[in-house]
Amino acid sequence: MSIAIARLDADTAAPEDVAALDRILTGARASIVRAGEHLDGAAERLSEAASDSERIVLVARLAPDGTIIGLADGVLGAGGLTIAAIAVDLAHRRRRVAHALLDAAAAAGSAKAGERVSVTAGVHSDNAAALAFFAAHGFVPSGTQGGVTELVRA
Ligand SMILES: CC(C)(COP(=O)(O)OP(=O)(O)OC[C@H]1O[C@@H](n2cnc3c(N)ncnc32)[C@H](O)[C@@H]1OP(=O)(O)O)[C@@H](O)C(=O)NCCC(=O)NCCS
Repeated sequence: MSIAIARLDADTAAPEDVAALDRILTGARASIVRAGEHLDGAAERLSEAASDSERIVLVARLAPDGTIIGLADGVLGAGGLTIAAIAVDLAHRRRRVAHALLDAAAAAGSAKAGERVSVTAGVHSDNAAALAFFAAHGFVPSGTQGGVTELVRA
């Protein structure tokens, strides 16, 4: 399986791109802590958000047809890069798609900030897959509140 990571381009996003984002977000919605804040209106809102200068919205496209199979939504601020959402289509999990998205989002955040930025994420404390994913990428818990574990990678 070959994938390409690219910024989501709101101007050129095709209807099938929006449909794919919708499918991925619907499949992952219960897992995404900040769903209310960032994902209401789901796919259309996400593609609009891609033009927000503080947001880093990346998609993973499957080669050769370009189908979107994953997304990462990051917010760059004074405290570094916050991963508001990272999600992969159910049928394509455990193939390093989120790994590639996270690497690319961290690199894009650091490039934009002009220095290496720390990365944080909030995960439901019972979301074993996400906790394992972030732990495998060097994140450590920084606190737990309201059933959400905050994670940070310096
Ligand atoms: C968490 C999520 C994004 C991981 O995506 P993915 O593309 O399957 O992850 P990757 O293949 O890049 O995983 C890389 C490594 O993370 C760890 N990992 C990922 N998923 C795991 C799981 N279900 N169980 C244990 N470890 C896991 C493993 O170490 C894995 O490496 P390996 O497959 O070589 O063992 C995906 O499960 C998902 O979309 N979940 C729903 C949304 C969500 O919970 N997002 C996080 C909160 S915003």
